[in-house]
Amino acid sequence: MVKNYPAVSEEYLKAVDKCKRKLRGLIAEKNCAPIMLRLAWHSAGTFDQCSKTGGPFGTMRFEEELAHAANSGLDIALRLLEPIRKQFPTLSFADFYQLAGVVAVEVTGGPDVPFHPGRPDKAEPPVEGRLPDATKGSDHLRDVFTKQMGLTDQDIVALSGGHTLGRCHKERSGFEGPWTFNPLIFDNSYFTKLLSGEKEGLLQLPTDKTLLTDPCFRPFVEKYAAVCAF
Ligand code: HEM
Repeated sequence: MVKNYPAVSEEYLKAVDKCKRKLRGLIAEKNCAPIMLRLAWHSAGTFDQCSKTGGPFGTMRFEEELAHAANSGLDIALRLLEPIRKQFPTLSFADFYQLAGVVAVEVTGGPDVPFHPGRPDKAEPPVEGRLPDATKGSDHLRDVFTKQMGLTDQDIVALSGGHTLGRCHKERSGFEGPWTFNPLIFDNSYFTKLLSGEKEGLLQLPTDKTLLTDPCFRPFVEKYAAVCAF
């Protein structure tokens, strides 16, 4: 598939580079990579391919979207980002939030995620209820990721690997605990831990467990557990 990325000015690219450096410092200092990745994902994961609404277009800056139940706790991420945001007023919020996610993966040892700047800021937050519900199963994951966003089974499994970072907080989601023993390192341990069964001190959400029981998802879990590809 040929993708057309928007053209941005040299000056904009320079601002992106500089902002990236500042984000590296902030994320390393505050150990806040997990919540930055969650912010980028929750900004993007509302995309609806039919209506072309939602998606990573900076709408998390609006109180209305931040107040969606699924986004509980993301106000912390926005507050942490505020001092850097102020230094780069020319960047769109849309690019800024995605860049924070890219840097979060990078500074925790994950792959370099290609970043294409030029997302515009939109003014319409998505309706509530587009992000996945952790208490549900594989049909629900396909409703959200495949029907709504246009992604594949493999994408669902690979993206779930984002839970290699961070943890659940009872006061935010009702769940508690990390998925791995090294929640500030981006590696394939989400998949190895998922395959090796439930362990004291670690958590598996129903939507994580469904990756093992669904016959189309499971081979991808096994593939990603076998080798760390980056
Ligand atoms: C497959 C569907 C998914 C469900 C149902 C789900 C659900 C959740 C829940 C309930 C939490 C706990 C929030 C809290 O209590 O702080 C969480 C955290 C997190 N999620 Fe997901 N998630 C999904 C997919 C993803 C994807 C695709 C990514 C990124 C690629 C991601 C990245 C994260 C990260 C990094 C955290 C940790 C945040 C922190 O430590 O503050 N999740 N997720």
